[in-house]
Formats: sequence, structure tokens, C-alpha cells
Amino acid sequence: MNKQKISKAIIPVAGLGTRLLPISKSIPKEMVPVVDRPLIQHVVEEALAAGLNEIILVTRGGKSAVEDHFDHHYELETELEKKGKTQLLEQLRAIVPPELKVTSVRQDQALGLGHAVACAAHLIGEDEAFAVLLPDVLVKPQASMSEQCDLATMVTTFQASHAAQIMVEQVPLADVERYGIADCAGQDLVAGSSTAMRGVVEKPSPEQAPSQLAVVGRYILPGKIMPLLAQTQPGAGNEIQLTDAIDTLIAEDKVEAFCMAGRSFDCGHIPGWLQANQVLGREAGLLAD
Ligand code: G1P
Repeated sequence: MNKQKISKAIIPVAGLGTRLLPISKSIPKEMVPVVDRPLIQHVVEEALAAGLNEIILVTRGGKSAVEDHFDHHYELETELEKKGKTQLLEQLRAIVPPELKVTSVRQDQALGLGHAVACAAHLIGEDEAFAVLLPDVLVKPQASMSEQCDLATMVTTFQASHAAQIMVEQVPLADVERYGIADCAGQDLVAGSSTAMRGVVEKPSPEQAPSQLAVVGRYILPGKIMPLLAQTQPGAGNEIQLTDAIDTLIAEDKVEAFCMAGRSFDCGHIPGWLQANQVLGREAGLLAD
């Protein structure tokens, strides 16, 4: 099998961020800081670390700060250069490394995650695999691990097997109704590796959940998911769900659950965001233990 290059990552950023109100009233939730940089910068850095250098932001009006963050800021750069603030200048320029290409497309109606991903369909080749990263969730390697990145493992696994990779982690039963939940036929999952998936359901009740394996918000998908998304009818919450298109894909293609080896922080709500700042702030040596 040919090793397919995967370089595109779709990042949906059109959400309203209601769970972060009032912080997100007039700033995009993706610009909320986690330790020393906005949430979106962590997510783009994760994509770059996995070799995904073509970022496709699915956005909407009122969110231009997200795009601006990945643009050069000439006035600021010139000023820092003039003042000889080299370290700061380098930090600033590192946000936009030469290999990073950012494109944005608009989601003109809030019809769900599946719809957001489908808004970028014209930018993805028919046989081109791509990643989806949900920016509410931060995925970081364990503090004890080196810089090993789960997303990079998912990319290489896809390249070897051509099976779609969906990152999952175990959650408490009471939380299953907040996530897509994978059905892996009761198999035991091993952290850092992939297991065949036989179904996935969006936000099931605890009684109906096939497992407690929650979809974390990192996906490597084949291009053929796009026509499936185009046919997907509204599901949970009356939204077009990416989960439902993946469930359809399982009938015709290999799909695997990748068991996260790192840690996730749900920064889309206040407790998760505070926890990320506390844990990562301490690890960065910026907060006392
Ligand atoms: C989305 C997905 C869901 C996934 C979750 C991860 O839901 O639809 O399958 O488990 O992200 O955060 P949302 O949080 O947008 O409701």
C-alpha cells in the first residue's frame, strides 16, 4: 500500500462557546488563554507536530481574531526588531512557521459538527485523508512521556493500515451522554494503539451506550467521508453529526478506535479550562505546586 501523505487538518471554530460565557461573549472561545497562549495555538501546534501543516479553519463572522493570530503582525514585529527584543520577536514569529498554511472557509449556518466539516469538502481530494481537530479539547502527552504525540501516531497508523482513526478515552458512565461513544465489541483497548470499531453513537443515554469509550475530538478520516456527510441527516440535538457519518463509513471501510495515551482537557467549559491552566501551568513552572 502506498504511504499517503496527510497534511490537512480541519479545525471547526464557528461554535458560539456558550459553555464559556461570559468569557466568550466578545472574544472567540478559541482565543481564551491556556497558560501562556490561546487555546487555538495549542491545537495548531499539535497539528504541526503531527506533520499537518495545512490548517483549514471552518469559521464565521465575529471570529477574525482566530485568523489574525496566524497572520504576521508587521507593526509589532518592526517595533520589537527596532527595540532589539529578539526573544519576543522569535516567539511571535514561531506562531507562524514557514510551513504553516492557513485557509478559512465559512460555515453559514450552525447545523452541527458534521456540517462544519462538510463545509471544507471542496478543499479535500476524493482519495485524500485528512485530520479533524476539535479545538475545545486539548490533548497533551503525559507529563512523564517525552514529546510523543498521539495525533502523530494516528497519522502513521492510518498510513500503514488505511483504517480511519478515531481517538477515544474512557469516561465515567454518567458522562457518556456528552460524547460520541464507540462500540469496540467489548474488547480491551491498549493505550497508544488501535482497535477495530463496529459502531459509534452520538450522545447516547447511559442505558443505551455501547461502552464508556468517548470520542475525544481527534480524527483521521478518508476523503470518502465527505460524500457520506453530504447525505447525513440531522441526528442527536437535531444537528448533522460527524459521528453518524463515521458510523455509516464503518459499513464500507475499516474504522479503528485509537486509545489515547496522553491526557485530554475539555477547555470548552469553565471547570476543564481551569484545570488545564492549573495542571499545565504547574508543569510549565509558572504556578507553585
Ligand atoms: C463533539 C462530537 C462528539 C465528541 C465531542 C468531543 O461534541 O460530536 O462526538 O465526543 O465533540 O468533545 P460536542 O462537544 O461538540 O457536543
